[in-house]
Amino acid sequence: MSAKLIDGQRVAELIRAEVREDVEAWVEDGHRPPFLKVVQVGSDPGSTSYIGAKTRACAEVGIGSETLRLPDTISADELVRAIRRLNADDGVDGILVQLPLPSHLSSHHVIESIDYRKDVDGFHPMNVGRLALDQPTFRSCTPAGIFELFRHYSIPVKSRHAVVVGASNIVGSPMAIMLSRENSTGKATTTICHKFTKDLTRHTIDADILVVAAGQPNLIKAEMVKEGVVVIDVGINRVADETRERGYRITGDCDFESVREKASWITPVPGGVGPMTVAMLMKNTLLAAKKSIYPAEIST
Ligand code: GUN
Repeated sequence: MSAKLIDGQRVAELIRAEVREDVEAWVEDGHRPPFLKVVQVGSDPGSTSYIGAKTRACAEVGIGSETLRLPDTISADELVRAIRRLNADDGVDGILVQLPLPSHLSSHHVIESIDYRKDVDGFHPMNVGRLALDQPTFRSCTPAGIFELFRHYSIPVKSRHAVVVGASNIVGSPMAIMLSRENSTGKATTTICHKFTKDLTRHTIDADILVVAAGQPNLIKAEMVKEGVVVIDVGINRVADETRERGYRITGDCDFESVREKASWITPVPGGVGPMTVAMLMKNTLLAAKKSIYPAEIST
C-alpha cells in the first residue's frame, strides 16, 4: 500500500476562505474587524518565520494584526505588564505569545497572565482545564487542526486505537485529551508515549492512528507501524542539507518514504499539519472577537 496524502495546505486554504467570509459578515454587521496581537520576545529566526505565516494569514482573512517585539533581556515583570496592557485594550481580541521564551522567563507564568478570554492559542490553564472537562474552550490550534483534517478526509476516530508520541503542552497533551474524551470527535482508545518510552515500537505498532509530535527526525520508521495506519506527523525539524541554498531542509518525525508504504493516510512535512495550525488560529481569533466561547454573562 502507498498512503494517500493528507493535504493540509489545501484544507487550510478552505478554512481560511471560510473564516474570511465569516469575518466579512461580522464586519458587514457593523463590528470592527477582529484583531490579533502577537508578542515576540527576542529574535529567534524560527519564531520570526512562524509569526510571519500567522500575520500573513490574518491579512488574507481580514483580521487585523500587529507584532509587539520585545528584547530578549526583558524581565518577567515588564513582560507581564505589557500583556496586562493588551488584556485591558478593548481593541485587542486575541493575544498570542510566541514560544519558546528565553530561558529566564517562565512560560507558565507568562501564559497565565494572558486574559483567558483572549488566549487564542488555548494554552491558558482555564482553557486547557475546560478542554479536559469537555466544556467550550479555545482548543489549541495544532490538535484542533488535526481534527479538521480527520473531518475533511472522513477518517474515523471513534473506537480506534490512537497513539500520541510526545506529551507537550502545545500538541501531544491536548491532542490526547481530545482523542480520549467521550464526545463527538473523540472516543478513541488513547495511548500517550514519548521519545523516552521503553520499547516505543510495542505501542506504535498497535496504532490505528499515530500522531507524532516528539521533535526528533526519523523517530518513526516503517517497522514501527502496522499496515493501514493513519500517520499524522507534527514534527518540524531543521536538518543540515548542503544541497539547499539556505543550508537546511525541514523534515518531520517520521521516515516519510518508508512509512508511507505501509500507511493508509499520511501528512507530508512541510504542507501537512503546519498550515492547519495557522488556519485554526484564524478561527480562534474570530471566536474571541465574537465572544463565542466566553459570552459576557459567564466572564469574570
Ligand atoms: N511555538 C510553537 N508552536 C506554537 C504555537 O502554536 N503557539 C505559540 N504561541 N508558540 C508556538
